[in-house]
Amino acid sequence: MSELLFVNACVRGERSRTLALARHFLSAYEKRHPEVRVTERNLMEDRMEPQYPEVLNRRDALWSAGKLDDPSFDAAWQFAKADRIVIAAPFWDLSYPAILKIYLERISVCDITFGYDADGNSVGLSRAEKLLLITTRGGNFSLPETAWMESGARHLKALCAMYGIPDFELLCAEGLDDVRNDKEAILARARCEAEALSARF
Ligand SMILES: Cc1cc2nc3c(=O)[nH]c(=O)nc-3n(C[C@H](O)[C@H](O)[C@H](O)COP(=O)(O)O)c2cc1C
Repeated sequence: MSELLFVNACVRGERSRTLALARHFLSAYEKRHPEVRVTERNLMEDRMEPQYPEVLNRRDALWSAGKLDDPSFDAAWQFAKADRIVIAAPFWDLSYPAILKIYLERISVCDITFGYDADGNSVGLSRAEKLLLITTRGGNFSLPETAWMESGARHLKALCAMYGIPDFELLCAEGLDDVRNDKEAILARARCEAEALSARF
């Protein structure tokens, strides 16, 4: 059975517009792809520790001893083995919440999600063919004058290259906190995009 990993970084939980959009996408996706098993990883429940010195020292020691089967690497193996990955995270401070960064640091493990070949070239080791970021933003960061500030989707796209995931997709509803905009119309458009994307993702 094919596996879709859903990484939930929507800090506001059930009040989150990003999570509502992600649930809309996943429900359309599951209807179209009943053969795919969806597994959710809820980062608010995981409460992973940042890489404080002692956390990193332990990880380095395990890695050097070749103990990549230690439970502390489970999240990295889960990511590496998924066939499809969907990350839902609101746009915070021009990128995404710190809990997602902590998760990404945890899953970025040499010889699990990425590695190096005999010539020293970086090689991606993750199985997924596609990763989708679902986000909502208060402002508009797709405009020619603001796009350069956007650092969330851009970072995840670059990480996909490192992990060996060839296809990065973005589903985004933006301008939601701008009083000049019709929020409901923006979200309705994003839900339509989610349905279309569920067919080709
Ligand atoms: C801590 C925090 C930081 C935010 N930073 C930004 C920002 O840098 N740019 C922006 O356009 N919106 C920002 N916003 C607004 C959110 O992106 C927007 O309200 C989004 O829809 C929230 O998603 P949610 O409903 O899933 O939590 C921020 C919101 C919060 C709570």
